[in-house]
Amino acid sequence: MTLLIPDEYPKSLFRDDGKRLDGRDIYDLRPIKMEVDVIKNADGSAYIEWGNNKIFASVYGPREVHPHHLAKPDKGILRVFYRMATFSVFDRKRPAPGRREKEISMIISDCLEPVLFLELYPGTSFEIFIEVVDADGGTRCASTTVAALALADAGVPMRSLVTSCAIGKIDGKLVTDLSGIEDKAGDADLPVAITWFNDEMSLLQFDGKMTKGEMDTSLDMAQDALKKIYDMQLEALKRKYIKIQKDVQDMEVE
Ligand code: CDP
Repeated sequence: MTLLIPDEYPKSLFRDDGKRLDGRDIYDLRPIKMEVDVIKNADGSAYIEWGNNKIFASVYGPREVHPHHLAKPDKGILRVFYRMATFSVFDRKRPAPGRREKEISMIISDCLEPVLFLELYPGTSFEIFIEVVDADGGTRCASTTVAALALADAGVPMRSLVTSCAIGKIDGKLVTDLSGIEDKAGDADLPVAITWFNDEMSLLQFDGKMTKGEMDTSLDMAQDALKKIYDMQLEALKRKYIKIQKDVQDMEVE
C-alpha cells in the first residue's frame, strides 16, 4: 500500500492514460475476495479482502444480554462493534474505541437491523464484532457487507443480505468504490447500502459536493456495483455449502 501524508497527495487522481492511480476504470470495483466460516469459536463469521482492506466479522447470538439492563422485553437487540486494529492504518490508531468507531458501529447496526427478525428474540442479543486489520478507504461499506455475510453464515434468519459500496467524485469525475487515497484527496464520497428484500437503501451518507444530476448518476452507479458485490456474497455462501456437500459425499464413499 502506498503511504501518503496530505502534503504528498498526488496532483491528479487519474494517470495520463485516463485510468485511476490503481489502474481501474471509473466503474471498476477494487478486487474483492470473501470467505465465510473463518472463525471457529463464533456462531458465524466471514472475512473480506476489498482492495487493501482486510476485515473479519464474527457473529454471536441469540444469547443473553450483558449488561442485563440493555435487554428489551419485546425484541432482541443488535449490537455491532466495529474496531480498527492499532496497526491497520498509517498512524498507529489508539486501541480504545474512538468516536469514529462508535459512529460507524451504529451506522452498520442501522444498515443491518431491517433484515433481522429481532421481534422473534425478546430479551436476547445478537452481537457482531468487526475487526479491520488493514484499512484503505471504504471500511464501513466492506464491514457492512462482510457482517451481513457473517450473519447469514451464523444461520440467523434474515429477510435478505445487505450490501454496501461507495460512489465518489475525484478530479470532477464520478467513480465507483473509492480507494483510501481517492477518499482523502477526492471531492465527494457517497457510501450506500441496500437491503435486497425491499430494494431500499439502509445507508446513504454524503460528504463533499455534487450536483443533483451527479447524485442521480451516482445512485445508478451504486446500484450496478452493489449487484456485482451481492453476487460475490452469494457465491461465498454457496462455496461453504458445496464444500459441506462434497465432504459428506466423500464420507459416504469411504
Ligand atoms: O473507511 P471509511 O471510508 O468507511 O471511513 P473514513 O472515516 O472515511 O476513513 C477513510 C479511510 O481513512 C479509512 O478507510 C482508512 O484507510 C483511513 N483512516 C486512517 O488512516 N486513520 C484513521 N484513524 C481512520 C481512517
